[in-house]
Amino acid sequence: MKYDYLVVGSGLFGSTFAYEAAKRGKRVKVIEKRNHIGGNIYTEDVDGIQVHKYGAHIFHTNDEEIWDYVNQFAAFNRYTNSPIANYKGEIYNLPFNMNTFYKLWGVTTPEEAKEEIEKQRKKAGIGEPKNLEEQAISLVGTDIYERLIKGYTEKQWGRKATDLPSFIIKRLPVRFTYDNNYFNDRYQGIPIGGYTQIVEKMLASDLIEIELNKDFFMNKDEYVQTYPKIIYTGMIDQFFDYTYGELEYRSLQFESTILNQENYQGNAVVNYTDAETPFTRIIEHKHFEFGNQHKTIITKEYPRKWKRGDEPYYPVNDDKNNEKYRKYRKLAEDQPNIIFGGRLGRYQYYDMHQVIAAALAVVKKEFR
Ligand code: FDA
Repeated sequence: MKYDYLVVGSGLFGSTFAYEAAKRGKRVKVIEKRNHIGGNIYTEDVDGIQVHKYGAHIFHTNDEEIWDYVNQFAAFNRYTNSPIANYKGEIYNLPFNMNTFYKLWGVTTPEEAKEEIEKQRKKAGIGEPKNLEEQAISLVGTDIYERLIKGYTEKQWGRKATDLPSFIIKRLPVRFTYDNNYFNDRYQGIPIGGYTQIVEKMLASDLIEIELNKDFFMNKDEYVQTYPKIIYTGMIDQFFDYTYGELEYRSLQFESTILNQENYQGNAVVNYTDAETPFTRIIEHKHFEFGNQHKTIITKEYPRKWKRGDEPYYPVNDDKNNEKYRKYRKLAEDQPNIIFGGRLGRYQYYDMHQVIAAALAVVKKEFR
């Protein structure tokens, strides 16, 4: 069969493009190196519980069009992300808000909370922040930094906060209301029955053929010669055979356990913010959908150093890597028949709503 497009990767970017192309009568071949579609938003039904296999995914957006778009493919529940921090057995609400401040200092009014933060910032006496530690303290004071930021961030990045650049924390959400809703967006929720159905529906057209367990690099030359146009959502440095060296990532390891109890931690997301606990979070999946099964499934999330062959989760967008990426981007611009997209093709952290918007922008340009 003759195809108009080859889409490399069946994540949200590739699938959105494939769906839109097929809607316009184009024939699309999708290849995916994993044994399932969906990329990192993939959820798996285990005993009626939707397990977020690649980390907790909560859809949120301010953009009504994107919200309507994704709602074509699934009904969403009213889940509101309200993570909790566990610091050495003490529980704090996130994001930092009046509940957190009350727990930390016993203050009950916004004025008292602001005064306390200001007092701590002044005492620290930091001028221009030189690293992440100084940046965080100058934003929220020492108590919040020591208990809720330091250990978590050091585990996440595998480096001391004093060795991390300040740009990682540009802003810290601080709220002087009793509001535990993590996001400020107008729309948020979890697709009832999981995320995989979204991608299944996107790829359901007769004009789309999917091939799993197929790595683009097994037949790169043939693909490039055969297909008139390629949407490539894999790693951009790998596409160019690491000509300028590797782009850096942080990786994650997930450890899931089925427990014979109804409710393990009472919340979908609990962050462990001390330095000693080796994982950063425990996800209890059933709470995303208010499940009442007799069992529960929890996943511990361990940050890991990335090396070639590992799953690349978070790009490390420091100056060195961004500079390298710019060089790859230049090479990409000289490939008129290849569109580089998604989080790996663009070496950029995208939330789901952003990746859909980015794919729709490409669609608009491609089919104008
Ligand atoms: P994605 O990585 O999903 O898809 C790329 C696909 O290409 C993969 O399936 C991969 O296997 C395939 N591929 C790569 N190379 C290939 C090759 N050589 N040959 C064939 N196939 C290849 N967002 C949000 O809005 N809310 C949230 O709560 C979260 N939470 C979250 C937690 C964690 C831990 C992470 C890492 C990320 C999030 N996200 C998120 C972000 C979300 O995961 C992200 O926006 C989308 O998954 C990005 O979709 P892409 O299609 O760009 O990449």
